Amino acid sequence: MLKIGVLVSGNGSNLQAIIDRIEAGELQAEISIVISDREDAYALKRAARHGIENMYIDPGKFREKREYEGKLVQVLKERGVELVIMAGFMRLLGPYFIREFHQRVMNIHPSLLPSFPGLRPQLQALEHGVKVSGCTVHFADEGMDTGPIILQGAVPVYDDDTEETLSARILEKEHQIYPEAIKLYSEGRLKIEGRKVRIL
Ligand code: GAR
Repeated sequence: MLKIGVLVSGNGSNLQAIIDRIEAGELQAEISIVISDREDAYALKRAARHGIENMYIDPGKFREKREYEGKLVQVLKERGVELVIMAGFMRLLGPYFIREFHQRVMNIHPSLLPSFPGLRPQLQALEHGVKVSGCTVHFADEGMDTGPIILQGAVPVYDDDTEETLSARILEKEHQIYPEAIKLYSEGRLKIEGRKVRIL
C-alpha cells in the first residue's frame, strides 16, 4: 500500500477529498501523516477526525529553511512515506527537500499552469480576462509551480465571477483531479520524461 504524507497550511478540503477516496476504497493508499506549518490549520482537525496522525511543525522555530526541511524529511521518512502531497501548503520547498524526495512530491495549483503561478492565481486569471481557468497537479521541482504536469482540469470563467466564486469552482475540480493523480501514481502509471509526464 502506497504510504503518503500530506503537507497542509489551511482548510484541507483537498486532504478531505483524498481521505474520502481512500475510505471509499477507490484509492489504494494510506495517509501516514499530515503535517501543517500553521497551528490553526483546519486540515489538522480533519486528519484527527479520521484517526490520521497529524502534527504542527512551527517553521519559526528553525534558524534556516534547510533545518526546517530537515525536520520535515525526518518525520516523513520515519513513517516510511513514499509520496509527499502538498495540499494547500503555502511554502516553496527548497532543493534539499526536493532532492530527498526526488520526483516524489506532488503539488496542486489553482490555475492552468504555466499561466498564473505564485500567489492568488484566481485573481490573476480574473484580472487577465481569461475565459477558461482551472487547476493543475504537477510534480514539484525547485521552482515556483514549474514541475512536470500530471493532470489539469478546466472550468469556465464568467463575467460576474469574483475571486471567491472562481476559487470555489476551481476547488471542486481540484477535488476530482488530485485523488485521480495519486491513483495513477499508486498504479505506477506516471512516467516522467524530461518536463513531461506520460500516463501509461
Ligand atoms: C487550493 O485551492 C490549492 O490549489 C491552493 O490552496 C487551496 C487550498 O485549499 N494551493 C495553492 O495556491 C498553492 N500554491 P484546501 O486547503 O481546502 O485544500
